Amino acid sequence: MNSPQTAAITAVHGWLPPDKLTNADLEKMVDTNDEWIRTRTGISERRILKDPKKATSDMVAEVIKGICTQRGISAEEIDLVIVATVTPDMFFPSTAQLACHKSGAKNAWGFDLSAACSGFLFALRTGSQFVSNGTHKKVVVVGSDKMSSIVDYTDRTTCVLFGDAAAGVLLEADPTGETGIQDAILRSDGAGSEYLRMQAGGSLNPSSAETLAAGMHFLEQDGKPVFKAAVTSMADVSFEIMERNGLGADDISFLVPHQANLRIIDATARRMGVGREKVMINIEKYGNTTAATIPLCLWEWSNKLTPGENLILSAFGGGFTWGSIWLKWAMTPKA
Ligand code: UT7
Repeated sequence: MNSPQTAAITAVHGWLPPDKLTNADLEKMVDTNDEWIRTRTGISERRILKDPKKATSDMVAEVIKGICTQRGISAEEIDLVIVATVTPDMFFPSTAQLACHKSGAKNAWGFDLSAACSGFLFALRTGSQFVSNGTHKKVVVVGSDKMSSIVDYTDRTTCVLFGDAAAGVLLEADPTGETGIQDAILRSDGAGSEYLRMQAGGSLNPSSAETLAAGMHFLEQDGKPVFKAAVTSMADVSFEIMERNGLGADDISFLVPHQANLRIIDATARRMGVGREKVMINIEKYGNTTAATIPLCLWEWSNKLTPGENLILSAFGGGFTWGSIWLKWAMTPKA
């Protein structure tokens, strides 16, 4: 018989760089305007990690430290760290190794996982397996991206969209199975790769004077096809996970959507029959923070959630990758 043990979120923490990049700032950098950005995307400002000596692993290390403080544990108690990111410090060593070193998680093994904006969902699903099968007691899953390191700040079609951030969770077993990750639907389709990617620096196009001159070290996106695919896929998969688990809109406390565009978020909520008041939305303040987005929402809303509440996490991103996770919240709000 399968064990009912689930992986529950027992701590959550986020880290945001202090510097803001507002729509007014962007108006001075490219041919754009506050009205266009707000009505087409919902974004007003985003955070930028300006310190040139700091990278994705530094943000992850802050998240690990915050998680340990919140849970009252030492970093040495962590067994595994999974970092979802498309902006690793470097190809190797992995961001997870660097962050473990910087945070004192010396008994943990770790690895990076690349699934763009769906990265946290892919990593959460992966991390939860190690907890629910009983092989690991404390697993940290972090989404962290320094998007400013791959954004072309002369390209108005992408530079208004992204921001830097990190956030993550601690997973521990719930032997009763009453809280924690209940179900997941994860999908990917490499046929979407041409619409959202960063081409240079890998084995296909190693960095060279030519790739640099062609701007291939920057993120590139053809927004329209990505938008179309995101609206359909995120809504479909969110509806599917509700349907196959017999969940109605009234059963859901919150939809926790990836924050790429307010119009995509609204379309997903509509398909689920969930009103705006039940949707976590912080895109206005942070823009699209790629893998950090969903845990950042969980962190910001954590004090409003009570044990047993049903959350649907949904994302769509480069790859294409997309998916939805149903979880039952396990933490009690801070007094
Ligand atoms: O997170 C990973 C997944 N990514 C996404 O989910 C993003 C999906 N895509 C989108 O969210 C939207 O496609 C964008 C927000 C990126 C763009 O919105 P859109 O409504 O699809 O605009 P568009 O690309 O069709 O551009 C409309 C017009 C164009 O001008 P013309 O050709 O109509 O004269 C663009 O050149 O808006 C122009 N434009 C801008 N104008 C002012 C594009 N970017 C800007 C800008 N400021 N920043």
